[in-house]
Amino acid sequence: MTAPPATETIRPDANAAARAARVLAAGGLVAFPTETVYGLGADATNGEAVARLYEAKGRPAFNPLIAHVADAAAARSLAHFDPAAERLAAAFWPGPLTLVLPRRADCPVAELATAGLDTIAVRVPDHPVARAILSAFGRPVVAPSANRSGHVSPTTAQHVLADLRGRIELIVDGGPTPMGLESTIVACLDRPMLLRPGALPRTEIERLVPLAEPPANAGASGDAAPIAPGQLASHYAPRARLRLDAQRVEAGEALLAFGPVPAQGGGRSALALNLSPRGDLIEAAANLFSHLRTLDASGAAVIAVMPVPHEGLGEAINDRLMRAAAPRA
Ligand code: TXA
Ligand code: MG
Repeated sequence: MTAPPATETIRPDANAAARAARVLAAGGLVAFPTETVYGLGADATNGEAVARLYEAKGRPAFNPLIAHVADAAAARSLAHFDPAAERLAAAFWPGPLTLVLPRRADCPVAELATAGLDTIAVRVPDHPVARAILSAFGRPVVAPSANRSGHVSPTTAQHVLADLRGRIELIVDGGPTPMGLESTIVACLDRPMLLRPGALPRTEIERLVPLAEPPANAGASGDAAPIAPGQLASHYAPRARLRLDAQRVEAGEALLAFGPVPAQGGGRSALALNLSPRGDLIEAAANLFSHLRTLDASGAAVIAVMPVPHEGLGEAINDRLMRAAAPRA
């Protein structure tokens, strides 16, 4: 599916969930209501679908996404739950609570969806339409709020249409969302920590577990000032040094290539992987974090990175590459 020509809006009738599941399975994008705001869903296990989702939203960078699942059992197959996480899930799922947890080694969610981090945000929404879609699909669905990047979160199908018409395949119109405010995000990594205030009040959570204060600057709400994941679990950082805009490869370097034109000296590289031999930025985004990890694991001290054009998803790809190349503190 490239360049969706039209955006269809359907009512949440008996066939809607199966229809949405088919679109998701084909790599398409489906907006649907949750109890908080409308989400823009993609198959979390399909890296190219996730790349298309970032493109449709016009995200300037690859923010990590929330994986939505039908129940806590499905969430446990993605992430490790400590006792605090178990207590919160038992009390508030389904509902407007997102937990940031250590990602399981066998978690099938595409690395792009978690921005290469070792943590993953998971949530079990409580809305009949969202639940029906998640049950029909049977796999995790990543769903940021269904607005263009920088706009406010949508609480009606009309808001979604105004932002995303012609950029996504399907909208399931379930009427206005009941809460209208995004989910509360709590990280259970070391000690439970409030990352984003939201529809579930802090006091409800504190009745069950104490909440540590987030690091300075974290805890902004909504899309206006999203939490930089770097404030909690640092941005994905390879051990190797990244050499950007490389036109030629030095002996012993690993190579992250892009496009059909080979790098000079490419034959000397310790290991070479191409983000997209045909120069497609959606394919490149889908491969970005997994290729970086594989090259890093080769043990090379330096990863030479060929230039990636700055248009479309290239802006977000270059943003991540620059962060990965920045000197560590
Ligand atoms: O109510 C909601 O949560 C809605 C509905 C659709 O479920 N979704 C939503 O997603 O608000 P989004 O992408 O607009 O906001 C998700 C927030 C972002 O600020 C992101 O940085 C943070 O969650 N996040 C996701 N994964 C994270 C992680 N591993 N560590 C820290 N923050 C994370
Ligand atoms: Mg948002």
